[in-house]
Amino acid sequence: MANRIPIVVGNWKLHKTISESSELVTELKNQLGTVRDVQIGVCPVFTSLAAVTKRLEDSNIMVGAQNSFYENSGAWTGEVSAEMLVDAGCDFVLVGHSERRAKFGDTDADVSRKARAALDAGLRVIICCGESESERDAGKTNERVGQQISAAMDVLKADDLEKVVVAYEPVWAIGTGRTATPAQAQEVHAFIRGLLGDRFGAAGTGIRLQYGGSVKPANAQALMSEPDIDGALVGGASLKVADFVAIVKAARPG
Ligand code: 13P
Repeated sequence: MANRIPIVVGNWKLHKTISESSELVTELKNQLGTVRDVQIGVCPVFTSLAAVTKRLEDSNIMVGAQNSFYENSGAWTGEVSAEMLVDAGCDFVLVGHSERRAKFGDTDADVSRKARAALDAGLRVIICCGESESERDAGKTNERVGQQISAAMDVLKADDLEKVVVAYEPVWAIGTGRTATPAQAQEVHAFIRGLLGDRFGAAGTGIRLQYGGSVKPANAQALMSEPDIDGALVGGASLKVADFVAIVKAARPG
């Protein structure tokens, strides 16, 4: 994991009411409030953001949204802008999650615009990428991930990179219980770091890369011990306090 600070983030997807969200983060704060060697984040649904940011004020746990839009205002029914997320107290946002790409039509170009708008609004961003099962089976993992990373790199500058994390989430491993092996994940992470290094030099190689896809307490440590895996983006297991706490602890250096 080199000397990059590990980062573990819970993506709650479409789960938890406002009161359930507040309850979950209160417990996380109780159990993780003193952790300083891992950066921790949670991504509740939009309606819970204000309550959660209030509950986590002055804590070591960051709050992010699961998506944002690339325009700041206007006739865009149903969208939420990055500036509005800042207003709600968010620290960061996920862009390009595979569920957004597959189910809501987010293209590589949309994801890039969203990343740019989020950075311009002052948010940190986690840019998600990953291949589908058929792309992996066809030997096209690097091609697909390469396209996603290239599109993102086109809107980034070296100066942005300390506020950017890339999450590699193979679609076939999300919510399926089928985790990529540490070696499979490491191979793609090394590829991504290479692309960023080629484009941005040291700022690119220094970026933090998370793995996501069926991360659980039982596999977290093996994944995060790989040299290019700097943390985890956790779906299902982030809804359970004990599991999420165990994954954060598995990310602690040394
Ligand atoms: P699971 O951990 O439920 O597989 O979800 C991963 C994910 O999509 C996180 O963004």
